[in-house]
Amino acid sequence: MTNERHNEPYAELAPIYDVIYSARHQTAQEVNFLKWAFKNLCASTIKTVLDVGCGTGRHAIPLSEDGFEVTGIDASEAMLRIAKRKAREAGVNPRFLNLDLRTLEIDRQFDAALCMLTVFNHLVAQSEVEAGLSNLKKCLRAGGLLVLDMINLGSLLRRYKDVDHQLIQDKSIIVHRIVLREFDELNLIQTHREFDIVTDGDHKSLVMSERKLRLYGYAELKALLHTRGFKRVCCFGSFEERTQATASAPRLIVVATRDSGD
Ligand SMILES: C[S@@+](CC[C@H](N)C(=O)[O-])C[C@H]1O[C@@H](n2cnc3c(N)ncnc32)[C@H](O)[C@@H]1O
Repeated sequence: MTNERHNEPYAELAPIYDVIYSARHQTAQEVNFLKWAFKNLCASTIKTVLDVGCGTGRHAIPLSEDGFEVTGIDASEAMLRIAKRKAREAGVNPRFLNLDLRTLEIDRQFDAALCMLTVFNHLVAQSEVEAGLSNLKKCLRAGGLLVLDMINLGSLLRRYKDVDHQLIQDKSIIVHRIVLREFDELNLIQTHREFDIVTDGDHKSLVMSERKLRLYGYAELKALLHTRGFKRVCCFGSFEERTQATASAPRLIVVATRDSGD
């Protein structure tokens, strides 16, 4: 087992990540929401964007194509390799850096910072959450916009399943995905184990991954953001409707503005 495999859950998942998530998540709709939020929820123009946990570049690449100056950072070298290849194929050149939000030191400030598709939920220990929020604040200019796309705790509890099966097909690749979940209700931490049986023509392989995710209700997250240097906190329940989140909404998309303090 290499260090990369041992240290991060996305190393093995990276080659099939787009098969699994592009089918289920409407990237174009998400990018449209982001552009709408940049225009309507920020008092000043947004040009530079930090995509934290950019993964395979689902948002960094189309935002670059739309003329934004994007830096994508990710703790997973394997995910970044795919993002870089896709950017080359698309003919755009976002900056991709192998950096961890928990220890992030970056040489500049951005107009907007994004944590799309549960990236912020990956910070589990209190010290990680504190470091993550402090680093997000540091890398945003005063008045800059923060977008956190999170699992909606209320909705997860309503449709909670310990075991889930999905069959996902993308061109010649078929993924039979089995997800096992354990939920620590006291600490709101979900352990998520995935077994993906991947069939590509005659070739079959098994990809296993495990991660822990810290879940939030909106009240907790809003209070946390207010005390850590963010204001004008609001939330949306889906990328399509752009209405306030409800307890049963599919996502908890939180948008906040960095205040002008240090
Ligand atoms: C579910 S994926 C989301 C990827 C991308 N944002 C998207 O919407 O497709 C979570 C990503 O967050 C990255 N990640 C998790 N913890 C991180 C951290 N502390 N710092 C930087 N990236 C992190 C993972 O490596 C993975 O690429």
